[in-house]
Amino acid sequence: MDARQILTGAFPEGAGELVRYAEILGTRGIEWGLMGPREGDKIWQRHIANSLSLVDAIGQGVDVADVGSGAGLPGLPIAIVRPDLRVTLIEPLLRRSTFLTEAVDELGLGDRVTVLRSRAEDCRERFDVVVCRAVAPLEKLLGWTTRLFLPSGALVALKGESAEEEIRSAGKRLTADKLSAEVLELRAAPGVDPTRAIRVTAR
Ligand SMILES: C[S@@+](CC[C@H](N)C(=O)[O-])C[C@H]1O[C@@H](n2cnc3c(N)ncnc32)[C@H](O)[C@@H]1O
Repeated sequence: MDARQILTGAFPEGAGELVRYAEILGTRGIEWGLMGPREGDKIWQRHIANSLSLVDAIGQGVDVADVGSGAGLPGLPIAIVRPDLRVTLIEPLLRRSTFLTEAVDELGLGDRVTVLRSRAEDCRERFDVVVCRAVAPLEKLLGWTTRLFLPSGALVALKGESAEEEIRSAGKRLTADKLSAEVLELRAAPGVDPTRAIRVTAR
């Protein structure tokens, strides 16, 4: 089975919207320059699998922000398969936020997914969970996002192999802000590649 079959089987309620979103990424996402042309073959195996690996790290019914959402990763796949969540996609660039607004509309998610054109550090809202992928090293992310999730929420940043090194590099900041960080080993479903994330919470 390929990643598309595995993931649509693992998340049957969201399967139709996941397929539609993958089509949007593979067509308009590439045409608008949000995805590299060579990424077209890796949409399920890399981008959607990676995003859905966060699903079990998010509690029921909470407010989630995806910081630096780009073309909607990881926020849109998460929103599709978790109808209990309210999700805000935070993205400063006009072309990307326009892409996101159109995608949210086409996927019928407008009642609980919001696009906010902003830099994370300028955002004044608070969330239970902040997620992100491929936006900045942990130390910089903390500077941008702690106000968004403290005192009682969490940052869950997809990081792959660099997780421990980023925690070490951010050590002083974590101590100064009284934060603890742990590495999570995650997988969207058996049969797709595992990945890792850093979860940061107040001590
Ligand atoms: C490499 S892209 C990753 C996009 C997406 N998260 C993904 O994994 O495909 C980084 C994104 O972060 C956004 N970004 C850069 N600085 C930011 C900031 N200060 N606040 C929020 N987003 C930011 C960029 O506009 C860009 O869309």
